[in-house]
Amino acid sequence: MLTDSFKKVLTEMLGERVIFDVPMARHTSLRVGGAADALAMPADTPELIDLMGRLEQASMPWFVMGGGTNLMVRDGGIRGVVISLTRGFSGIEIRESGPEKVVVHAGAGAGLGALCRFAAESKLAGMDFAVGIPGTVGGAVIMNAGTRHGTMGSVVSGLEILNVPDKKETVSARDLGFTYRRLVWDRTVMAKSGHEPVVLAGFFELSRADERGRETGSEAMQAWRRQSQPPGFSAGCAFKNPSPDVPAGMLIDRAGLKGLQIGDARVSEIHANFILNHGRASAADILRLMEIIREKVLAAFGVELEPEIRIVGEPKDE
Ligand code: EPU
Repeated sequence: MLTDSFKKVLTEMLGERVIFDVPMARHTSLRVGGAADALAMPADTPELIDLMGRLEQASMPWFVMGGGTNLMVRDGGIRGVVISLTRGFSGIEIRESGPEKVVVHAGAGAGLGALCRFAAESKLAGMDFAVGIPGTVGGAVIMNAGTRHGTMGSVVSGLEILNVPDKKETVSARDLGFTYRRLVWDRTVMAKSGHEPVVLAGFFELSRADERGRETGSEAMQAWRRQSQPPGFSAGCAFKNPSPDVPAGMLIDRAGLKGLQIGDARVSEIHANFILNHGRASAADILRLMEIIREKVLAAFGVELEPEIRIVGEPKDE
């Protein structure tokens, strides 16, 4: 579908900021998945708008990725263009500074860790919950990433978005539907282009912190995460919690599935809601393991688990 002449158009537009036949295993924390036809890394909003215009005009499928830390690409890869905002779109700065509240502006392509560090260095509280969560600011916003100590939705006061292909807007938190592990777009926003908008940047409302409380908060968070979540190649929690008091990890654990393995994909012994790639797992191995987990948990507890990991791309032809 991505013809040589369209590749030329992309290269003329983006230079070395577009690459072709890109193995997505190298761009995702789970380290599985086939190649994307193209990976485009626009440097700024005008370039992104230009790119979107061309893609829409050519009816070329596209998909915006974040840090690839909550994403699984199937083994057949991705047709069309994957867009990454991590080359540009990564500035972090203070926009409003009041006696108690401070608004920080962070680009979608900035690391969530960089935003947490910026907040800590600026002596601001509010991002502690996110310390140790991998990925980008944009990805974290779209997935409403969080822990039981807070979520992105609780600190976002507004977003800068691109209504595809070319309308840049600022949306206030009031008009954003943050739900459990998802940002649901208003229908009127979606109706304008038929696409979900692209998040360009977020405004984060933080408060001035007393230093001692802030440091112990984020250190405790990191220590807790180190002992309760496994290191290694994963995409974080594989399934959503069916409800806050029924965690998926507890159900998978009680169903006796820790250590269950398909190929190199394995249910973590430390946290049962983590699936680890121990080396050469394929997306098919992981999907099969997820299917078995779903069946067993349904049979044991009558609860239907839903994936938390975002799954994209094509299966591999047999
Ligand atoms: N549990 C078990 N066995 C396990 C794992 C957990 O019995 O193998 C029990 C724990 O003992 C605990 C309960 O399940 O009582 C909840 O576990 P945990 O505190 O680890 O939290 P979680 O609900 O499994 C959620 C998020 C995590 C986030 C943590 C921390 C989801 C799906 N997961 O996990 O997010 O880091 O809270 O607040 O909402 C992610 O989104 O990728 C992710 C890792």
